[in-house]
Amino acid sequence: MRIAIIGAGALGSLFGGVLTRGGHDVWLYNPSNKKHIHAIQKNGLRIQTGDGDFEVKPNATTRLAEIPLPIEVMGIFVKAYDTERAISDALPLISTETWTLSLQNGIGPEVVLAQHVLNGRLLRGVTAQGATLIEAGIVRWGGRGPTQLGLFGTKSGQLDDSLENLCATLSSADWKTHFTPEIEKDLWVKLLVNAAINPLTALFNVPNGQLIADKELNAILHGIIREALPVTRTHGVQLSLEEAISHVEGVCRGTAQNLSSMLQDVRRGKRTEIEYINGVVAREAKALDAQTPLNSLLTRLVMRSPY
Ligand code: PAF
Repeated sequence: MRIAIIGAGALGSLFGGVLTRGGHDVWLYNPSNKKHIHAIQKNGLRIQTGDGDFEVKPNATTRLAEIPLPIEVMGIFVKAYDTERAISDALPLISTETWTLSLQNGIGPEVVLAQHVLNGRLLRGVTAQGATLIEAGIVRWGGRGPTQLGLFGTKSGQLDDSLENLCATLSSADWKTHFTPEIEKDLWVKLLVNAAINPLTALFNVPNGQLIADKELNAILHGIIREALPVTRTHGVQLSLEEAISHVEGVCRGTAQNLSSMLQDVRRGKRTEIEYINGVVAREAKALDAQTPLNSLLTRLVMRSPY
């Protein structure tokens, strides 16, 4: 299978690296991190795991025109705020057979993608995999977790043979993937995870596991979830508070060593995805007349952090 990764940062490179190891023809594309791409071209991509490292040699480029066609899977891994630019550039890679697959954080990228991807093959997914870009050419697989994929748009909820095959192919390459008939609901469950983990880890400069170990941070984590839950309920999430906390804490444990994507952004002085995560919770809560002081405060604090 030929796979193009648009926006090969931490998670995109990990996804591409794992699939390269699984025998697929992977193209990593990232025009804004030339150092990372050049390091991969020169030395390959090193993936650090708790059980030892492995090295793979995916194709890597800063020029879209170098990626050969046809592309079977085009993974969109850019930050949520970069989706419009990325999909506009990458449109020439999409044929009638191409799956466009987004595992991005936040709520919103799928709406932008749906305006461009018109072949009925837009997949939105959520993943609990943890990836940290250690330095150019080196990614740490900081935690494993399942990925859920569903069709976004008019055919949402449907599973056909080709989608079932795709999930099986990704799973057999060690990227455990399941079809979900309820992708919108799953996106909101993932939003709970990101709303609770990302701003706290970014502001307190701690790995995900610390949100369990540190009692004060853990209490704030619970508060964020408590506030966000009524918003997620309007999108079909039926978890009780206890279930929601247990789910989020499960991800903290499963990715205990991982530095959240937001912490990685803040450390690099980059714009974060806070408006697409806690910002969405605060905005939607207003429409419900619900109060979300923690989510609003965290949004403002992260937006104030210099980048
Ligand atoms: O954004 C992230 O870092 C990830 O979505 C997750 C699952 C919270 C792991 O760090």
